[in-house]
Amino acid sequence: MRVLLGVTGGIAAYKAAELTRELVRGGVEVQVLMTGGAQSFVTPLTFQALSGRAVRTTLLDPDAEMGMGHIELARWADLILIAPASANTLARIAAGLADDLLGTVLLASEAPLWLAPAMNQAMWRNPMTQNNVRAIQALRPDCQIIEPDSGEQACGDVGPGRMPEPEELARRVLTWQRDSGVGRPENGPVRDLLGLRIVLTAGPTRERLDPVRYLSNDSSGKMGYALAAAAQQRGAQVTLVSGPVSLAPPAGVEVVPVESACDMLEAVRTVLQRVDGADWFVSAAAVADYRPQTSATQKQKKQGDAGLTLSLVQNPDILATVTSARQARLTVGFAAETENLLEHARAKRQRKGVDLIVANNVSRPDIGFNSDENEVWIVSAADETLVSRQSKTAVADKILDAALAADRLKRNIEETV
Ligand code: PMT
Repeated sequence: MRVLLGVTGGIAAYKAAELTRELVRGGVEVQVLMTGGAQSFVTPLTFQALSGRAVRTTLLDPDAEMGMGHIELARWADLILIAPASANTLARIAAGLADDLLGTVLLASEAPLWLAPAMNQAMWRNPMTQNNVRAIQALRPDCQIIEPDSGEQACGDVGPGRMPEPEELARRVLTWQRDSGVGRPENGPVRDLLGLRIVLTAGPTRERLDPVRYLSNDSSGKMGYALAAAAQQRGAQVTLVSGPVSLAPPAGVEVVPVESACDMLEAVRTVLQRVDGADWFVSAAAVADYRPQTSATQKQKKQGDAGLTLSLVQNPDILATVTSARQARLTVGFAAETENLLEHARAKRQRKGVDLIVANNVSRPDIGFNSDENEVWIVSAADETLVSRQSKTAVADKILDAALAADRLKRNIEETV
């Protein structure tokens, strides 16, 4: 998808640099166009480095026009986003002025137009600004005005006028692309998870007895890594909190390595706090339910001929913690069972309060732990679907399909309530 990002004069212009980075990370081609005012806050070179394209600044630049003229530029865009849109820019758009590059491109383009106003709170509230916003909406009913956030402003005032955070704006753009199908590549993976932020866990945890010994399990991380890779290829922004495994990090995925269940909970909490909650939390890790009550700092010596009794304490339940704190819109858990697969999976789904449980039979050597293939049941409140034995990569795609369907259903229900 091709986004023409108009950056106008205001302190929030620096946030547009971060927005450019986020969009490019989401696979969007970004052409930045800066007004004179914007260049007083951030240099075109910053945007050029982030977008990989020369920034357009003036209408009458023979060199730039030799490349992509302003009319071509207007036709090139799938979406025009002006962020930040200053009070002056709103007034100029409302008046239909075409005496600079931005004004000219706007008049010449039929692409959807989104404006993210950002200014001092009094300027935003001013009836003249509000009148300009209404005029733009009346003249271009398709234009989306992204309401500014309220809060402390650079000038010290408090009130509405802050440009929404770049991550939030980028997420809106990517979600729009996903839902509208605009600019979808004809070849290559379906990018139906664009705009989604997904946090996953994978692999085993190690619960230390001493510096050289631990309690763990047979998880290789293959299932969780396959999910992370597939989600990233389908356009999601993915963070993978991983126990110790010997797999290469999937391309484009942020990997946070951890060792124990307590480390994993801490890392998940930190990531979720940083991203202000995830769209989806997928818990594929085989987390140890117990850890030794004490962990020795030195290697423990054998004590004569006597046996050894270990005292264990329960680990926190990471999945149940995320679910009960409502830190993700959709949660997906796994159930690793050796008997009564569906029965246990149903109970686990309800007990942990998750939307979907992916149940695998870990008593079979050809699937489950450490194998390259898996066979799973995907259990939701509404139905139970068998995904027959196939590569973990293919199973990962089926799980993501089911999660996307459940998420759509959930969002529709929430929107209509
Ligand atoms: O890693 P692989 O070798 O590819 O193998 C894949 C797998 C078998 C490990 C994977 O598909 C799987 O089933 N993972 C979950 C294993 C497990 O711990 O299941 P459980 O039934 O004990 O836990 C239920 C759910 O709660 C899981 O989503 C688990 O991540 C989560 N949990 C469990 C305990 C705990 N303290 N915190 C948790 O978050």
